[in-house]
Amino acid sequence: MTEAGSGSAPAALSPLDSSRFGVRVARAPQVTLETLPDVLDFCKQEGVQLLMARCETKDLSLAQTLERHGFFLTDTLVYFRRDLNRPLLPEPRPVTIRPALEADAPAVGEIARQAFRGYDSHYHADPRLDRAACDALYVDWAERSCRQADMADCVLLAEVSGQTAGFLTLKRISESEADGRLYAVLPSMQGQGIGQALLIAGLHWCKERGLQGMVISTQITNLASQISWIRVGFVPHSSFYTFHKWFDK
Ligand SMILES: CC(C)(COP(=O)(O)OP(=O)(O)OC[C@H]1O[C@@H](n2cnc3c(N)ncnc32)[C@H](O)[C@@H]1OP(=O)(O)O)[C@@H](O)C(=O)NCCC(=O)NCCS
Repeated sequence: MTEAGSGSAPAALSPLDSSRFGVRVARAPQVTLETLPDVLDFCKQEGVQLLMARCETKDLSLAQTLERHGFFLTDTLVYFRRDLNRPLLPEPRPVTIRPALEADAPAVGEIARQAFRGYDSHYHADPRLDRAACDALYVDWAERSCRQADMADCVLLAEVSGQTAGFLTLKRISESEADGRLYAVLPSMQGQGIGQALLIAGLHWCKERGLQGMVISTQITNLASQISWIRVGFVPHSSFYTFHKWFDK
């Protein structure tokens, strides 16, 4: 799962993270050895207190350079991709799936509240970030996905006996691909195939829009997610480290 990045600049302030955590936060979505000096200059000029930086896992010398500069590892993200043309998509499962309306935001937020409490995210891995704020950001993210077009093009809901049991948010990221951004099932209803039903419905949503592929990402430790993706034909695609760095006076 990935939140929207901060564009193509090597680093940008993150007003949302700053308000979540009460410190001045910047993000560097794809730092490289070449852009690192600019990223650090940006943080100095802007009085950044916390930098969240991502780099490709294959760039180990960059990771080691970041460690020398006081960055610490907070997660490893794995991306999987599903080609929508082959193998053939699995048939939709016999679970009621429908697009969410704005009015569904509280129910979707409640699933996120339960499913992502204490989640293994890069936020939770930073001991200086408030635990409750780390949990709350998933609720906020899920709810805003139902309300804001810039967050998601569609939020698919799974309903079981009239109760909202799970959701998957989808966002087009290019002419040919969409990203499964946030995905969760109520803990009391996990392990019953609801996640699979959502993924399969998400794949069909993408295919119906003429896309060629769907990508999805999670922490490397999230085996339940990765197992569920593999079952419907996703394969590993790329991986990134997330580092945090605090700039203390
Ligand atoms: C990931 C998640 C959405 C999966 O939903 P789910 O409804 O429980 O998944 P399903 O019942 O459809 O299971 C799909 C497959 O994953 C496997 N699986 C599910 N939970 C698992 C677990 N905890 N450990 C190992 N395998 C697991 C199932 O066995 C199944 O494989 P099978 O076909 O061989 O039986 C759900 O566990 C969840 O909400 N987790 C917390 C939030 C989260 O991690 N979201 C994803 C972030 S990207």
